[in-house]
Amino acid sequence: MRSSFLQVLALATIACAAPSSRSTHVLHEKRAAEPVGWASRRLESHRVLPIRVGLKQSNMDQLEDMLNSVAHPESESYGQHWTPEKVADFFAPSDNTVEAIKDWLMSSGFTADRVRVSPGKGWIEVNATVAEAEDLLNTEYHVYTHPSGHEQIGCDSYHVPKHIQEHVDLIKPTVHFNHRLPTYPMGNKREYHLGQPSSVNGPKTLDTKIEVEPTMSNCDQFITPDCLRALYNIDYTPIVPQKNSYGIVEFTPQAYVADDLDLFFRNFSSRQIGQRPTLVSIDGGFVQTTNQSFDLNGESNLDLQYAMALVGKRQPITLLQAGDLPQGASFDNWLDAVDKSFCTFEGGDDPTQDGIYPDNLEGGYNGTASCGIVKPPHVVSISYGQDEWTVTPAYANRQCAEYAKLGLLGTTVLYSSGDDGVAGGGGVCLTNGQPDVNGTQFAPSFPVTCPYVTAVGATQINPGSTTDDPEGACEQVIYSGGGFSNIFPMPKYQAKKVNHFLKNHPPPYSAAQYNNTGNVRAYPDLSANGANYVIAIDGGFNLVFGTSASSPVVGAMITLINDARIAIGRGPLGFINPAIYSDLFSWAFNDIKSGGNQGCGTPGFNATEGWDPVTGMGTPDLSLLLPLFLTLP
Ligand SMILES: *[C@@H]1O[C@H](CO)[C@@H](O)[C@H](O)[C@H]1NC(C)=O
Ligand SMILES: *[C@@H]1O[C@H](CO)[C@@H](O)[C@H](O)[C@H]1NC(C)=O
Ligand SMILES: *[C@@H]1O[C@H](CO)[C@@H](O)[C@H](O)[C@H]1NC(C)=O
Ligand SMILES: *[C@@H]1O[C@H](CO)[C@@H](O)[C@H](O)[C@H]1NC(C)=O
Ligand SMILES: *[C@@H]1O[C@H](CO)[C@@H](O)[C@H](O)[C@H]1NC(C)=O
Ligand SMILES: *[C@@H]1O[C@H](CO)[C@@H](O)[C@H](O)[C@H]1NC(C)=O
Ligand SMILES: *[C@@H]1O[C@H](CO)[C@@H](O)[C@H](O)[C@H]1NC(C)=O
Repeated sequence: MRSSFLQVLALATIACAAPSSRSTHVLHEKRAAEPVGWASRRLESHRVLPIRVGLKQSNMDQLEDMLNSVAHPESESYGQHWTPEKVADFFAPSDNTVEAIKDWLMSSGFTADRVRVSPGKGWIEVNATVAEAEDLLNTEYHVYTHPSGHEQIGCDSYHVPKHIQEHVDLIKPTVHFNHRLPTYPMGNKREYHLGQPSSVNGPKTLDTKIEVEPTMSNCDQFITPDCLRALYNIDYTPIVPQKNSYGIVEFTPQAYVADDLDLFFRNFSSRQIGQRPTLVSIDGGFVQTTNQSFDLNGESNLDLQYAMALVGKRQPITLLQAGDLPQGASFDNWLDAVDKSFCTFEGGDDPTQDGIYPDNLEGGYNGTASCGIVKPPHVVSISYGQDEWTVTPAYANRQCAEYAKLGLLGTTVLYSSGDDGVAGGGGVCLTNGQPDVNGTQFAPSFPVTCPYVTAVGATQINPGSTTDDPEGACEQVIYSGGGFSNIFPMPKYQAKKVNHFLKNHPPPYSAAQYNNTGNVRAYPDLSANGANYVIAIDGGFNLVFGTSASSPVVGAMITLINDARIAIGRGPLGFINPAIYSDLFSWAFNDIKSGGNQGCGTPGFNATEGWDPVTGMGTPDLSLLLPLFLTLP
């Protein structure tokens, strides 16, 4: 449990409210997976909980259609992105919803002065004693203690009156449990935040010295920017860089090392020596230099070295650095920073998942939480993820809707698909939906399974091959994350291509491995090389592997396409999935037909003709994709 939360718990006791009738209550949320290895005890009834009710937004049933209307290449309104005001108004919770929740709380005994509606109307907050909260939600609160001393609060399910359910997304703090065992990266006793990389979910490295100089003839052993340019026909110099933007998200304590950028540029992009990304500090985020190691610098160095080299010197890159040192940050935190209508902090951030700001811990960021501080860049690449089973459907859906809104605004959001094939982070799989080191059920990752982000998998130049030969799925050190969601239904845009795969190449697995109904979101959407990247790290060169590399490379290509469009007076691409799955665009991808993504004691899926759950639609060919996107309005 985070100490910012502890302080709220230490508040004075508030008088008990009259008990509400529970007879009409229905189950609203149940914990996604049981805590394994945590001891639990009842939470004292006089403690005070900051109860936050996340209100159902309006028009959510139209989200997919609205997004398709601006993103499908055959739509008449393609490219007509919305203003932030239009997005906020269209989806804001209705007055009816706000009143229904207030009425419920007041009829349950909370006086009006204790009930606060957040400025964006997204949340309603009330401080309740444990006794009041247990009565309100027909639940029991527990304190869970990990053998490491780490504590969390929660309940395993909660209920709301039937007539209230249609107005509520989720209520916190309740069932949203952080299962990831704490590690202590910066020597402090804070939990290693979910969004942050670790040896489990960051890029992987081989500690081999690079003895041979990388050239175009050994790209199968050493990937450099030139190898990628050759593979994907990247040959474009930005024309209107000041009108364009490309953001890379990093979570503190992960940080780039300035000297490493120059070391990399000296060998691979000499005109960029001295060039740095433009820092946008989210919730006190900064480029920490206290501790340097592969785990703390590998991700940022990789993302920035390749993103910067591939877009070239003229195009500035925005570094969205999220979180302070003591607490770090989550996906919700960076979303808060680019959309003030999302801002979950205004009564909604979840202490088990999200950074809570201001942070009054020693060395913490004590300023205001970052809410709508920066316009979303046209392209954002995020090489971080967590297992889908660690979040509840309500939490996942709320965050996922936000990605759709970014698409409506004209932003392309790319996430790496994970490095463990069909398994979850660290190779952990599931048994009956619960994490199990010996499980054989596949464990998809989040937020890549959100149908409104673009999921990027990994390929490799097969050993002995060149950039002229077809690539295969990455099978060195890492396996491309891919498969089928256990939370999200299938979006329309991928139905035809995914069902072609399921029908023509039926995997030899049953529903015990994955949801094979053909009705769920499948990923990744596309892929790019993820093996043998030469990066400069902590003063030397190293080889790294991961979908972590693939995502910023695809982001660079989309950024170049945006430049070409903006230069002729068109808008940025925004959400690309409906286009890339369309028959009009599929031929602009190199279809990947070899390799697989083993995991969970199985060979995983096969990369094969057409879309597959290893490499998606394949790798983009910029020389084909760019002119195609210029044909769209
Ligand atoms: C709940 O308690 C916190 C901590 O004292 C306070 O800052 C906040 O305003 C309270 N919220 C409401 C709705 O009373
Ligand atoms: C990080 O640096 C601090 C201060 O130099 C040190 O106490 C701590 O052990 C370091 N942590 C790691 C993980 O290297
Ligand atoms: C970097 O450049 C130096 C000097 O040309 C060369 O000796 C070295 O092999 C290069 N290293 C890599 C990894 O390209
Ligand atoms: C916030 O932190 C800064 C730097 O640590 C400190 O100087 C300042 O007094 C703090 N402000 C508050 C309100 O605690
Ligand atoms: C996993 O399997 C190994 C080998 O069969 C066994 O030793 C271990 O206890 C199992 N672990 C769990 C959590 O079931
Ligand atoms: C598979 O997904 C479908 C569609 O979302 C759902 O109705 C079904 O319950 C899922 N099956 C399993 C076994 O989870
Ligand atoms: C992958 O392809 C091989 C060879 O065609 C086939 O034997 C195997 O069953 C396939 N595996 C899956 C998971 O589809």
